[in-house]
Amino acid sequence: MQRPPAVTAKIRAAVGNDAADILLVRREAVLAKAVSHYDPVILNDWANAVDAARIARQISDPDYRVLVAEAGGEIIGFAMAVLSKHELKALYTRPNPIGGLGRALLSEIEYLAFQATPYLVCEASLNAEGFYKANGYAEEGRNDRVSRSGVISRVVWMKKHRPNINPR
Ligand SMILES: CC(C)(COP(=O)(O)OP(=O)(O)OC[C@H]1O[C@@H](n2cnc3c(N)ncnc32)[C@H](O)[C@@H]1OP(=O)(O)O)[C@@H](O)C(=O)NCCC(=O)NCCS
Repeated sequence: MQRPPAVTAKIRAAVGNDAADILLVRREAVLAKAVSHYDPVILNDWANAVDAARIARQISDPDYRVLVAEAGGEIIGFAMAVLSKHELKALYTRPNPIGGLGRALLSEIEYLAFQATPYLVCEASLNAEGFYKANGYAEEGRNDRVSRSGVISRVVWMKKHRPNINPR
């Protein structure tokens, strides 16, 4: 019997029309993957914290780099960096059969961002801390983040310096 073809993802720059799909991925990723570390009030607040108009503005902002991962014609992950803030602003993958999607997206967004900034910081959620550590980020400190609607959640500030050797 033949093995089914492996599912692979294509990573590309986001366009304005992707905003609604990005929003769905963000919401699904939060509700599925952060449930181990945060209570429902925090999860709902986080999942609903942004809207498609804001994401569309970020996609068209030259200070931002936004990538999406697509498989089978659907967006299954995205990553966002803000160059002037040296910040990895978002990294989300919805549950999917492709191993290593988060790492692949992170690697691509770092490749773009490190052309413009010598380091990246990120406000990591507790569920993502191990993932970032495994990908070269070190803890800078912890604090209680207060959302626009006043919900408090514990986060970890992490930082990664641009590697000296760029393999590409
Ligand atoms: C964090 C996130 C983007 C990681 O993406 P992912 O597609 O699940 O991760 P990958 O499959 O690329 O994992 C790559 C490696 O990191 C490891 N890893 C993943 N999540 C981890 C975690 N929470 N702790 C420790 N290691 C982790 C994996 O085991 C894998 O290592 P391996 O190849 O040696 O097995 C994803 O889980 C997510 O969307 N989470 C919800 C949203 C979120 O918290 N985003 C970060 C906001 S700051």
